Amino acid sequence: MMKDDIEKIVYTAEDLHKKVAELGAQITADYKDAKEPIFCVGILKGAVVFYTDLVRQINLPVQFDFMIASSYGSGTKTSGEVKILKDLDYDIEGKHLIVIEDIIDSGTTMHYLLRYFQHRHPKSVRLCSLLSKPSRRTADVHIDYCGFEVPDEFLVGYGLDYAEKYRNLPYIGILKPEVYTK
Ligand code: IMP
Ligand code: MG
Repeated sequence: MMKDDIEKIVYTAEDLHKKVAELGAQITADYKDAKEPIFCVGILKGAVVFYTDLVRQINLPVQFDFMIASSYGSGTKTSGEVKILKDLDYDIEGKHLIVIEDIIDSGTTMHYLLRYFQHRHPKSVRLCSLLSKPSRRTADVHIDYCGFEVPDEFLVGYGLDYAEKYRNLPYIGILKPEVYTK
């Protein structure tokens, strides 16, 4: 069973639900006077679980769009390179963008993406990340809406993967060390 690979649960499904509801309420309050739908950009695949929960906690019109960017191989260490594997479907000029990400680690991916978005002249850009590992940061990234600050440990579940596994765990946890040597 998948849960037998988990050493420790860091955030339960209930912790996550509570935090996502808080973030959604904060975003709803901040954008209540916006004249047009909030353009929510989810970064696939890691953010997809967080994204679908978060947008349902935003009590305002939102427009969906997704990007696939990759700075990682299938392992746990960043390569420092960012590739856009799927671009936005819509023109973001004049839109209020909220970029929704699972985790800001080194910041390489998001630093690159935020600059990429700015070049397309949105009306505003804010970043919402469920998790942040500040001790690992090498690129400067401002997180407008941050769920939890986490220590430098590799996390899985609720969208986060190790070698494309564990994304569908309903909680966030740490793997047993032997899983990495399998
Ligand atoms: P960054 O460019 O170093 O900030 O890396 C961001 C991406 O690395 C995230 O979107 C995740 O896909 C991945 N990542 C970073 N830390 C973890 C982790 O602890 N577990 C799973 N994926 C992670
Ligand atoms: Mg990711």
